Amino acid sequence: MKCGEHITLDIERLNAKGDGVGVCDGREVVVPRAVPGDRALVYLRRKRKGRFEGVVDDLIEPGVERIDPACVHFGVCGGCRWQDIEYDDQLKIKESLVHRLVAEQDLTAGSWRPILPSPQQNFYRNKMEFSFGSGPDGVPQLGLHMRGRYNRVFDLETCWLQSEVSNRIVDSVRSHATRLKLPVYDLRSHEGLLRFLVVRDAKRTGEVMVNLVVSSYPHDGVDDLLASVFEDLGRQITSCIVTKHSGLAQVAIGEEEFHIRGDGHMWERCGDIEYAISSRSFFQTNTIAAERLYETVCELAGDLTQSDVLDLYAGTGGMSLHLAQHARSVIGVESVSEAVVDARRNAERNEIGNCRFVSTLAEDL
Ligand SMILES: C[S@@+](CC[C@H](N)C(=O)[O-])C[C@H]1O[C@@H](n2cnc3c(N)ncnc32)[C@H](O)[C@@H]1O
Repeated sequence: MKCGEHITLDIERLNAKGDGVGVCDGREVVVPRAVPGDRALVYLRRKRKGRFEGVVDDLIEPGVERIDPACVHFGVCGGCRWQDIEYDDQLKIKESLVHRLVAEQDLTAGSWRPILPSPQQNFYRNKMEFSFGSGPDGVPQLGLHMRGRYNRVFDLETCWLQSEVSNRIVDSVRSHATRLKLPVYDLRSHEGLLRFLVVRDAKRTGEVMVNLVVSSYPHDGVDDLLASVFEDLGRQITSCIVTKHSGLAQVAIGEEEFHIRGDGHMWERCGDIEYAISSRSFFQTNTIAAERLYETVCELAGDLTQSDVLDLYAGTGGMSLHLAQHARSVIGVESVSEAVVDARRNAERNEIGNCRFVSTLAEDL
């Protein structure tokens, strides 16, 4: 068995990333987008650390029925993995993955509740991070990473995950960046300007926050770009930040933030609680599913009226503030200081007095 060959493979399980895994001649073969029960003709693309990686050339016998994916980028995009599988089947696959991961750790759950589906399957995300790349002739690209290619970006036309307005913002930023001939940051030479575009889109309040991450600011070109984007979509964009990030790490956070519109926050409502979310703070990306999650946790926690609750990894207080409505007191522990500032502000805004937040690593508590 060697790279370049085809083999017939039965997919037995998923790895933690959600890729299918089968065994041939005693060796593991990892096959992205294959699921347990699939029998496929697999092309062996490469071998890494004694493990083969393959792609499905022909699905001989599907373990799960396949459907036509809605998205034109499916397969190329590193985002969605199972858009060609009905949502109900995706849930079954995810549920069995969780059961297996728990069993592998020798943990036993007292009882299992069924998986909670997301109320929405499209346009549910409140945050997306888009990357700039350079196309042929250095023309700016703006979109998502290609599957398995951390350094390759493709131009996004329509994504089904966030919102129509987010797609229009991506399109507007890309076309004005091209017109203004703004250079994209190059990962090898570390020259260039444009790095990331982060769009946050609150599902309950309708607020939209745009965060443009660039290597240098103040910069006239960035101001011209944002002025043009505001002309196109200014009424929808409620807050806008420019983040200056001159460091080498390819992350959408930087050393300085400039508030171009608004005060650096977006408001979102989850259940009956309002949350301020700033650019560096974590907030559950599926607001409406988070409402279900928090409701379920409160329900499972039972009577907390005499309990003091510790919420480790608290983010902006999503879970803590919900629990505080039922408990005697809650302490939320969070390592990102900006998120703790947001969490405290959120407790105050919602007049929740029995919840406080500590900015530290959970393991140092
Ligand atoms: C997945 S989020 C969960 C947030 C929150 N529980 C919620 O439901 O909204 C995890 C949070 O843990 C924080 N975090 C990561 N490592 C941490 C650590 N070692 N100690 C404390 N907080 C940490 C991250 O900054 C992030 O805000």
